[in-house]
Amino acid sequence: MQDKIAQLSEKLEAARLGGGTQRIEKQHQKGKLTARERVHFLLDKGSFEEIGALVTHRSRDFGMDKEIIYGDGVVTGYGTISGRLVYVFAQDFTVFGGSLSETHAEKIVKIMEMAMKNGAPLIGLNDSGGARIQEGVKSLGGYADIFYRNVLASGVVPQISAIMGPCAGGAVYSPAMTDFTIMVEQTSYMFVTGPNVVKTVTNETVTAEELGGASAHSVKSGVTHLTAANDIDCIEKTKRLLSYMPQNCEETAPNLPYELGDELRPELDNIIPESANQPYDMREVINGTMDEDSFFEIHENYAENIVVGFARIAGRSIGIVANQPISLAGVLDVDSSKKAARFVRFCDCFNIPLLVLVDVPGFLPGTDQEWNGIIVNGAKLLFAFSEATVPRVTLITRKAYGGAYDVMNSKHIGADLNYAWPSAEIAVMGAKGASEIIFKREIKAADDPAAKLAEKEAEYAEKFANPYSATSRGFIDEVILPQNTRRKLIKAFSMLENKVDKLPKKKHSNIPL
Ligand code: HXC
Repeated sequence: MQDKIAQLSEKLEAARLGGGTQRIEKQHQKGKLTARERVHFLLDKGSFEEIGALVTHRSRDFGMDKEIIYGDGVVTGYGTISGRLVYVFAQDFTVFGGSLSETHAEKIVKIMEMAMKNGAPLIGLNDSGGARIQEGVKSLGGYADIFYRNVLASGVVPQISAIMGPCAGGAVYSPAMTDFTIMVEQTSYMFVTGPNVVKTVTNETVTAEELGGASAHSVKSGVTHLTAANDIDCIEKTKRLLSYMPQNCEETAPNLPYELGDELRPELDNIIPESANQPYDMREVINGTMDEDSFFEIHENYAENIVVGFARIAGRSIGIVANQPISLAGVLDVDSSKKAARFVRFCDCFNIPLLVLVDVPGFLPGTDQEWNGIIVNGAKLLFAFSEATVPRVTLITRKAYGGAYDVMNSKHIGADLNYAWPSAEIAVMGAKGASEIIFKREIKAADDPAAKLAEKEAEYAEKFANPYSATSRGFIDEVILPQNTRRKLIKAFSMLENKVDKLPKKKHSNIPL
């Protein structure tokens, strides 16, 4: 028996070493942790249980029969984060560049299925040279097996992809189909075709970092939701993200303990500027109403005219969607509509209530927007809100103009509670634009057209640049003082805790993709 125990220990030690000390050193020199180190920092101490440590590839071509490494380039298993079960895979770049073979894929698929059956999140730590070149189509099949499970698991358990090294070719589609992607700056990249192919096909010269680094995908494409300064930061952000989510679609996110105080926030009375055209940072409203330091922004540098993220209010996890007046006056456009729609759908999948903060002058006009499909893209957000059955609360802080009023979680599309501050203006458009249209003839005929316009503008503003017309119809439930906002929201989300709402029976809806 002692021999057999020694034999097992030897194999496990070989698996632990992966591609060997030299390759581990190389990984460290690049500023990257190894797969096992990443799993170690991600999970609660001592909680990791590895599955498939002794799996080996089946490839016999190109000398691969002589290169058998236990684990086959991916560490898989389960453990806990803050005591909550998670499933994890971490690709090991020290073994054949973390490339994906048939067996490597089988290991990932195995834990994906376990995650779905046992209702716990799946975290993928990606660091791979792509399809194992020596295996050809078997490796491509392995990718598709993973893609298929990503889709089956979507909406069942949360899926998070950390990109901690190369992620190229079709491999990018697994992270793209998970709920959140987080990229490490400088050491990770994602692209469908790399710089060499780009050069050959389009004659464009671009570096891997420029083409698909963390900055490109957080600012330009929106492919990544978060970026991290290094591996440890990436792991910490992954854990924080997870803390706002439930384990699966049947559960709610954990509540943190909270003791109620007076909950008045007088500083909120001073946020809205005197002039309606002066911007302010909507994050001030968010931070002023949510639990201290609880706001965790998603997609921070992409489509900055809308802010989305998770926060806690009296310990309860909620999702926030908010127009951002300091960027393009908070207008809705193609990118902000897509960004917010995706976030709303995530929250709805996983029973996370939504708070929507509105200060929106309308949709962005212009050929660029029309030709890029603001119609279908704006419709995504309208569709996502309309379909959401989680508790939905809206607060209009200032402008709610035109179609954007309807879209931004209005009462008419199913919001549960709609509040407005006294500074709210709910109208088809701003007073000046409206007066120019409906009083056109009167203004033209006046001795002093400018004075007439000012007079008519004031008349229109008096009627509509306030929340009371909408309140008298019940479109707004209550006009509240800013300082009372937190109090109201705590009560609202508590009251809505057991909300039950169902969509009509159907196979699935047909969101305008
Ligand atoms: C087999 C691979 C590999 C791969 C890297 N390696 N990629 N082995 N299949 N796809 C091996 C290398 O041979 C090397 O082995 C070790 O991993 C480390 O690679 P290096 O090149 O030394 O590392 P580095 O300089 O950091 O470069 C990393 C890299 C580069 C940029 C990822 O290795 C690379 O370009 N690899 C090929 C990428 C690729 O074309 N993959 C296929 C894409 S198509 P030794 O023994 O020397 O240490 C694809 C389709 C997916 O993925 C489709 C899904 C539907």
